[in-house]
Amino acid sequence: MNVGIIGAGAVGKALAIGFLAKGNHVIVGTRDTAKLLPWVGQNPKAILGSFADAAKFGEVVVLAVKGTAATEALRAAAPTDLAGKPIIDATNPITDAPPVNGVLKYFTNLDESLMERLQRQFPKAHFVKAFNSVGSASMVNPQFAGGPPTMFICGNDEGAKKTVAGLVEGFGWQVADMGKAEAARAIEPLCMLWCIPGFLRNDWSHAFRMLS
Ligand SMILES: NC(=O)c1ccc[n+]([C@@H]2O[C@H](COP(=O)([O-])OP(=O)(O)OC[C@H]3O[C@@H](n4cnc5c(N)ncnc54)[C@H](OP(=O)(O)O)[C@@H]3O)[C@@H](O)[C@H]2O)c1
Repeated sequence: MNVGIIGAGAVGKALAIGFLAKGNHVIVGTRDTAKLLPWVGQNPKAILGSFADAAKFGEVVVLAVKGTAATEALRAAAPTDLAGKPIIDATNPITDAPPVNGVLKYFTNLDESLMERLQRQFPKAHFVKAFNSVGSASMVNPQFAGGPPTMFICGNDEGAKKTVAGLVEGFGWQVADMGKAEAARAIEPLCMLWCIPGFLRNDWSHAFRMLS
């Protein structure tokens, strides 16, 4: 499969390595390919491009940019290059304000998530929330004593969710489908919860698991 990754931070790179290891072809999109040359030196199968190149190339597209830049990054793509495709949305709506007692500040509220905004702004794309509430180091083949963790996903298009669920399971996760786009109002704040032990105790190695 061709995977286009919009964003070249810790998340874009971690998922690129994961998709490449599974035999996919990957373009990593950035505004500045020069700064990624050392990384490509270590991951020579990855191809660098612009955000638009990544969107055009991907049968599945990953959105992994700073939350405040998500709309702008997607606007760099041609609308036809997003239409009908699963867009794995790993972003979180984190403001530039510092955390308060370890609690991040969001620019959204509990009645509107970032993914819902993006879905409204790019109605033909099929957004699926995933990978937003775990650290980049554990996104692919997570290893925890408690067993495989749970990836909470949501999105309006059932076909796109099925595709993304298969990819997430292939990375070693249990998938919990939380329904339509509105569920991102609950999934995005899981990142706030996930980060608290990190900011308070420098503990960043954990993940959520749904028990029943
Ligand atoms: N870090 C984690 O462990 C983690 C875990 C789960 C979810 N997330 C979420 O995943 C997303 C990516 O996080 P990250 O840690 O990989 O890195 P990040 O620093 O949040 O984002 C890096 C990417 O954002 C792009 N970007 C930044 N400002 C921009 C602007 N004004 N216009 C367009 N693009 C801009 C950068 O583009 P250039 O490449 O051109 O500089 C880069 O590709 C975030 O929304 C974050 O909340 C992060």
